[in-house]
Amino acid sequence: MNPKKQKAKDRRRARKLADQAWQAANDNNFDLAEKIILRAVAAQEDNPVLWNDLGVLLGLRQKDDEAADSFRAALSLAPTYAEPYMHLAAQRFRQGAAHEAVALQTLAARYAPEKTEYLERLQAYQAVAGRQPAHAVLAHAVQARPNLEPAHDLDDTRSFDELATLDWHALGERLTRDGSVVIAEMIDASTCERIRGMFDDDARFAKTVSMDRPEFGHGVYRYFAAPLPGLVDRLRQAVYPHVARIANHWQELLGESGRFPTAWDDFREECERAGQATPTPILLKYGPGGFNALHRDLRGAVFFPIQMAVVLSAKMAAMEGATGHGAIDMVACGFQGGDFLFCDDPEGKSSRRQQLALGLGDAVLFCTRDRLVRVGSVFGLQPVRHGVTQITAGVRFVLGVPFHEYR
Ligand SMILES: [Fe+2]
Repeated sequence: MNPKKQKAKDRRRARKLADQAWQAANDNNFDLAEKIILRAVAAQEDNPVLWNDLGVLLGLRQKDDEAADSFRAALSLAPTYAEPYMHLAAQRFRQGAAHEAVALQTLAARYAPEKTEYLERLQAYQAVAGRQPAHAVLAHAVQARPNLEPAHDLDDTRSFDELATLDWHALGERLTRDGSVVIAEMIDASTCERIRGMFDDDARFAKTVSMDRPEFGHGVYRYFAAPLPGLVDRLRQAVYPHVARIANHWQELLGESGRFPTAWDDFREECERAGQATPTPILLKYGPGGFNALHRDLRGAVFFPIQMAVVLSAKMAAMEGATGHGAIDMVACGFQGGDFLFCDDPEGKSSRRQQLALGLGDAVLFCTRDRLVRVGSVFGLQPVRHGVTQITAGVRFVLGVPFHEYR
């Protein structure tokens, strides 16, 4: 066989083997996947895509050093191939080397400017690395996406104006009917990452509770100090007018005369007049075995009946059905278990219990103390409790946002 034909044959064989390897990986047979992809690489050693695939599969098997070697091999064959840079960056970030991750991800964004997710990831790494973005690189990468803000501006400029376009009428109806409602992917991944990245910044927090009691929960709860980070503050302000209208509708249905101000500043002043000026938003981190026992939040003379939780980590279940290329990063920041629980108190035969599997960026609005129930033509209140089931693997970060402040 002449060399040209041999090469074409090798390429076809390598491609077929690579397909088989990913099939094995999708079947969770990573041992077999690794063996097959090694054969694919041997069949066509000068193919950088195969080296990249090998790196991803080795990474899924926690063989980080070998994975890194494979990504570098891919880059030695194709120095402008963006994906290996992205994977190397993700690996270094997981290993705590945020600055190195920034440098690598900068190259990924440079060589694939059309991939917005690369830029978002770069911004997230920069936020964690706590350094100014590389303006030249960003300027190049942003060209294709002029509406994206560099990371250093995210905390100051990220508005949540888009939340006004949600169907708040329908959300209110669900919340009235069920006592809770999920807003899937309310927050984008990079904003989740940015807020999650605040967790280790001690200066941002007034109080930290390492909870480890079977009757309460197991996890680390960090209460933000005043002033709140801009992102958290603006998120709360963006949601408040909508939930205030829902809460006022409940007041009407209950025949109560009091109303909540629909302007955030007015409600905050009401809290202050009652001596409640301590911020309530909280960043929670649950590791394996972590959970939050069912409870009601009862603090505050001025009290808002709805609160919000936003999950900032990805569900590992999201890996199922994903291709190997995406799966590696789910492992980096995901969790298993850790569903949101919401149930009537006390629980009985006819009581309701909801278990919600929330993932990255998903928000849940729920009744803090009581949900509305209709008995005939009259509305009353049913006490409710909320909590989080046990995290079985990984780490789950969540932002808790009550709307009233504490004393
Ligand atoms: Fe709570």
